Amino acid sequence: MSEWDKLQETCNSCTRCGLCQGRNNVVFGVGVRDADIMFIGEGPGEQEDLQGEPFVGAAGKLLDDMLSIIGVNRKNCYIANIVKCRPPGNRDPLDDEQAACIPYLRKQVELVKPQIIVCLGRIAAQRIIYPNFRITRDHGTWICRNGTWITAIYHPSALLRDISKRPETFADLLSIEEKLREVHANMQERTP
Ligand code: URA
Repeated sequence: MSEWDKLQETCNSCTRCGLCQGRNNVVFGVGVRDADIMFIGEGPGEQEDLQGEPFVGAAGKLLDDMLSIIGVNRKNCYIANIVKCRPPGNRDPLDDEQAACIPYLRKQVELVKPQIIVCLGRIAAQRIIYPNFRITRDHGTWICRNGTWITAIYHPSALLRDISKRPETFADLLSIEEKLREVHANMQERTP
């Protein structure tokens, strides 16, 4: 059995936190398993829980539109969440729920080995980048950790609620597109 299959099987039967009790599906992740770019959201909503796939509701449709601006789609990226089971009523995932689930995401990152990670919203940014990350202040900034470039943009749900944030997000998307160009150029340089 491949490492991916083992991980997926473990997630499907996970009971590490209380979220397992209300789930219809474990929302494992979607996309290509050796993608250059990975997007990390917060946790499944109602539609994601019903369909077993991340970002398939209204926020997901906006995410797809945003990604298409920079030539990214579900066939050339990988998308996952901080927690794999739906928090009731779409509340934020609790600290202990995040802590219980994060090893699965870390394993996914280890397997995908993305050049770029984009956190979608505050919850993912605070868990992945640093705990006092402020999305309004720090979105669009980059850090490089162990050779992987990491940034955060507003969560698509926030952009549905507040369209005044969209121009800043457009600029952040262009910065991600530029970073993708950079990493591709570096990868080509290293190819003999
Ligand atoms: N919001 C998220 O953070 N993740 C999803 O998968 C859907 C909505």
